[in-house]
Amino acid sequence: MSDHDVASPVSVRWVGGSGGHLELLDQTRLPGEIVWVECRNVPTVIEAIRSLRVRGAPAIGIAGGYGVVVAATEASQQGLDDGPAVAHLLAAAEEIAAARPTAVNLRWAVKRVLREVGLPAPAGSGSPPPADLVASLLRAATEIHEEDRRLCTAIGRYGAELLPEGDVLTHCNAGALATGGDGTALAVITTAWADGRRFRVWADETRPLFQGARLTAWELVQRGIPVTVLCDSAAGHLLATGRIGCCIVGADRITAAGDTANKIGTYGLAVLAAAHGVPFYVAAPSSTFDLSIVDGTEIPIEHRAAAEVTSPWGRAIAPPEAEAFNPAFDVTPARLIRGIITERGVIEPVTRDAVARVIGGA
Ligand code: MRU
Repeated sequence: MSDHDVASPVSVRWVGGSGGHLELLDQTRLPGEIVWVECRNVPTVIEAIRSLRVRGAPAIGIAGGYGVVVAATEASQQGLDDGPAVAHLLAAAEEIAAARPTAVNLRWAVKRVLREVGLPAPAGSGSPPPADLVASLLRAATEIHEEDRRLCTAIGRYGAELLPEGDVLTHCNAGALATGGDGTALAVITTAWADGRRFRVWADETRPLFQGARLTAWELVQRGIPVTVLCDSAAGHLLATGRIGCCIVGADRITAAGDTANKIGTYGLAVLAAAHGVPFYVAAPSSTFDLSIVDGTEIPIEHRAAAEVTSPWGRAIAPPEAEAFNPAFDVTPARLIRGIITERGVIEPVTRDAVARVIGGA
């Protein structure tokens, strides 16, 4: 078996056909335990997205798409007529789309599955939903899932071609767990490794929820790729040693100018990489681009509970009187990004024109 034959972990699956349900690998329990969460109703889907049981921009998009199928299944089990069924579906879809605000993939996927069944219907059209509403939605959600698998493979291929010599530094988790395939940033790493390239991956632990230490390191260990976990604050010192050939990260939303929202700490890492002349790459599918905005300051940034900072794993590490600042994402301006690796090719240099050329016709 070659390195590339190591199966990627799956984090989202639909069990059964129409009338089936969604299952999510609970990423809050990794790497210690493999626990699947059954989602048979909308509140469970929303809770799983909000609490990061499922996480990573493409994966929450895929889960959101299936979440709409769960909503339609609920409506059919309750025996709702067409009008109330559509009202239930649209209200649930909006709640799912709003469960986390920064990753554009979530709202994008929810809208895309609804569009497949002609929803929301143009005002006054009065057309009923298709008789096979659940099956049609499931087809659309499955298509997003399967498409994401292919996008990851293409991103891995493009990225592996340009990966410079030297070790690789990454932040958060942009691997299989965060997508429907091999990941984005991690697909670049695993594809290059399968091509015979040899290097060490340095994984920022990624405070406060440790996606780098818990998830990225776990995925790489499973694939037999050497990985070293470091505190986020050690990245500057590591870059100064000169052993890092490039930084590569995923993305949650990329504007028409290439400004990129990703896990908190990404912006600081990009500044450090620039200070040390180390190329900084972003890897993301076209579904992560939001061409309706240009300036990164317009990207909504999720702020999360103080306890994630002050009481990791429920253990207080700060005095109760202290407040906490807990933005889940930050924005890296395009000028700090050497290239954006997409399934359609590499955007380099990162300019508005180049984004339009590669992604514009989306
Ligand atoms: O809060 P999370 O864990 O959902 O944040 C995830 C990230 O920031 C990832 O880097 C991003 O979604 C890309 S995943 C391919």
